[in-house]
Amino acid sequence: MEEKKQPSTGGSHFVGKKDELIEAKRSFRTLEGRDVLIIHHQGGFYAMDSYCYHAGGTLQNGDIEEIDGKLCIICPKHKYKISLAKGECIYKGTDPREKPPVPRWYSKGVKQRTHTVTEINGDIYLKLSEDTNWIESDYYQGEKGKVERAKA
Ligand code: FES
Repeated sequence: MEEKKQPSTGGSHFVGKKDELIEAKRSFRTLEGRDVLIIHHQGGFYAMDSYCYHAGGTLQNGDIEEIDGKLCIICPKHKYKISLAKGECIYKGTDPREKPPVPRWYSKGVKQRTHTVTEINGDIYLKLSEDTNWIESDYYQGEKGKVERAKA
């Protein structure tokens, strides 16, 4: 009998069947001690740390909206807007030097750690971010942040 060759997953974790994750829309997984939210929205998969970088709000039930051309999850706690693709926090502000000031969208930069989702033959794999820089959402994945979240 011919042996079936398993695809190489290169440090990725199997997180579920594509159809199941599409149906679920939002799925929560703990991988290597990290709590991650997997989102399926408008035909695409996204993954990010599941607690908001701002004060540890649970993003799982946040609404998703397109803002300034970016799909964003809106944290239910204080309504911060975080892009699904990059974890960038965006906000509406005005530049006081502008006369008259016109409100527009600005970026606070990447605040939420995002992870890579890939599909191999109907199976979905997630590879955790290997960015060695501190990203603010890391705080709520650590011991101190977990204690703080539990108190909130
Ligand atoms: Fe998410 Fe404050 S905890 S906006």
